[in-house]
Amino acid sequence: MRIGILGAGRMADALGTHWARAGHELTVSGRDPAKAAALAGRLGPTARAGTWEEAAVFGEVTLLAVRDHAVTEVLEAAGAARGTLDGRVLADCVNPVVQGRFTLATEGGPSMARRVADATGAHVVKAFNLCHEDVWRMTPPAFDGVPLAVPLCGDDPAALAAVRSLVTDLGCEPVDGGGLERAGLLEATAAFMIGLWVGGADAQAVLPPLKYAFGAPG
Ligand SMILES: NC(=O)c1ccc[n+]([C@@H]2O[C@H](COP(=O)([O-])OP(=O)(O)OC[C@H]3O[C@@H](n4cnc5c(N)ncnc54)[C@H](OP(=O)(O)O)[C@@H]3O)[C@@H](O)[C@H]2O)c1
Repeated sequence: MRIGILGAGRMADALGTHWARAGHELTVSGRDPAKAAALAGRLGPTARAGTWEEAAVFGEVTLLAVRDHAVTEVLEAAGAARGTLDGRVLADCVNPVVQGRFTLATEGGPSMARRVADATGAHVVKAFNLCHEDVWRMTPPAFDGVPLAVPLCGDDPAALAAVRSLVTDLGCEPVDGGGLERAGLLEATAAFMIGLWVGGADAQAVLPPLKYAFGAPG
């Protein structure tokens, strides 16, 4: 598959490493061309660096991996207003979390994923936002032998299928998180969990196993 990555930071590196290893072709882009070129070099012979727009139009899937405050600017530079991402598959891992407060920067308005969909016309799939980059760097991301489950929220079946296959490439299990209307819940979950983790709580321990989810097993 051809994958364009908007961003040349930690998430681009962590996820791009898996996808390059799986044999995908990658074009990575960032505001610092030298940093994007260095990342492409680390990812290996199937990767190259390009402009924001080159990465946007390269991919059968485009990953958006920039800080939330940079999203509007980066989509603009990628030519979104001219339709470069219209109808494309866009995986969005952006967490619009207010540092220190662990609330959403998007509070009171549409989710980040919805804003990205509206700005681009892309088939957006919210994914990869619940775990730290170091978890995504694990080969595979698994705990006690159980592969990490990765919820996906999106509306377009073909887009969901493409992102599901990229989740599988990491050695993780895709989980149906519902439509894009639920992406805001996934973003809020990240904000809440990060707040618990920073406070020293084991966020995983706040939820019961599935068999207790609807009451004690009979
Ligand atoms: N890191 C994690 O553990 C993690 C986990 C889940 C989700 N996420 C989400 O993934 C996204 C990327 O995170 P990251 O950790 O990869 O961030 P990062 O390492 O800071 O990289 C972000 C990328 O965006 C670029 N950027 C930042 N400000 C910009 C601006 N004003 N204009 C244009 N480009 C700009 C950066 O350029 P420079 O390198 O030049 O700064 C870099 O290419 C974020 O939305 C984050 O919420 C992160």
